[in-house]
Amino acid sequence: MTQTLTLRRPDDWHLHLRDGAMLKAVLPETARHFERAIIMPNLVPPVVTSTDAAEYRARILAACPPEFDYFKPLMTLYLTEDTDPNDVAHAAELGLISAVKLYPAGATTNSSSGVRDFDKVRPVLEKMAEVGVPLCCHGEVTDHDIDIFDREAVFIDRVLTPIRDAIPDLRVVMEHVTTKNAVDYVRENQNNLGATITTHHLIINRNHMLVGGIKPHYYCLPVAKREEHRLALVEAATSGDARFFLGTDSAPHTDPNKLQSCGCAGCFTATNTMSCLAEVFETAGKLDRLEAFTSLNGPAFYGVEPNEATITLTKGNPVQYPEKLATGEGPVTIFDPGFPLHWRVS
Ligand code: DOR
Ligand code: ZN
Repeated sequence: MTQTLTLRRPDDWHLHLRDGAMLKAVLPETARHFERAIIMPNLVPPVVTSTDAAEYRARILAACPPEFDYFKPLMTLYLTEDTDPNDVAHAAELGLISAVKLYPAGATTNSSSGVRDFDKVRPVLEKMAEVGVPLCCHGEVTDHDIDIFDREAVFIDRVLTPIRDAIPDLRVVMEHVTTKNAVDYVRENQNNLGATITTHHLIINRNHMLVGGIKPHYYCLPVAKREEHRLALVEAATSGDARFFLGTDSAPHTDPNKLQSCGCAGCFTATNTMSCLAEVFETAGKLDRLEAFTSLNGPAFYGVEPNEATITLTKGNPVQYPEKLATGEGPVTIFDPGFPLHWRVS
């Protein structure tokens, strides 16, 4: 008997679409299965003002093939120390943005314009709390004395807790959580707090990246942690707890940019995310919770309705996804979960 699973059409609450030829190639990979996506603003130069966001949104819509005309990019602004609180409020009022993204300066790809001195952005954060715009946090400190595997846990103590204590009405999303510390922090703090979890962090731990030879396609930021942390993420994602929802952080880089002596961080999961997630949830015995994670919890946090349309997954012989996606900038390697995928979106 064929096993099928019908879900409300999912949304991706953390996505990198890039621009130009890369945007054109990667956008259909998301829009094929997802109705909405929160679009990360870390372009070069970054998407900082409401005008930047309006222009980027227009480029995304222009790149979207007509068969995916339901796809809605939900825009974000890149928080800098010069961000104007009134411009954020204006963008929110127009319905142009869904969130503002905080990158601590130097934390990851194209983050040099990020925040160094958190006191400088306090007026923006206060305005966001007032008008109800969430802050999406890349939750890693960048202090050189902090070990890369501890950067998320230290961010919670040194940055996130003080911000949330100072501005309790600010709605915060801890993006791409990778540690049990972050999962526990979300569970212990009921108010105005949610977290996204990526596809790849539910599947790989740091051994997958480093044992038996370095695997550049598993290198991302925050870097994958120990197995006990991966298990905590799987537990949180499959628990049905509404504060945890999917943000793939699908982040395309061409192979030449990944495979070099200083390779870029990012896993490209847009193409096979739903197959990967169905496998993870089935293995955990929690397939019935997949819809909450991909299609219900995110809309609830962002205060929007779940999508009306549905997708159906069918279980069968292993699905073969291509190894690479061709783009106008070069090939992008599609995430390899390291196990067979039996669920396909039909
Ligand atoms: O692995 C990552 N890649 N993490 C990020 O935070 C940024 C992203 C990118 O833009 O490539
Ligand atoms: Zn990201």
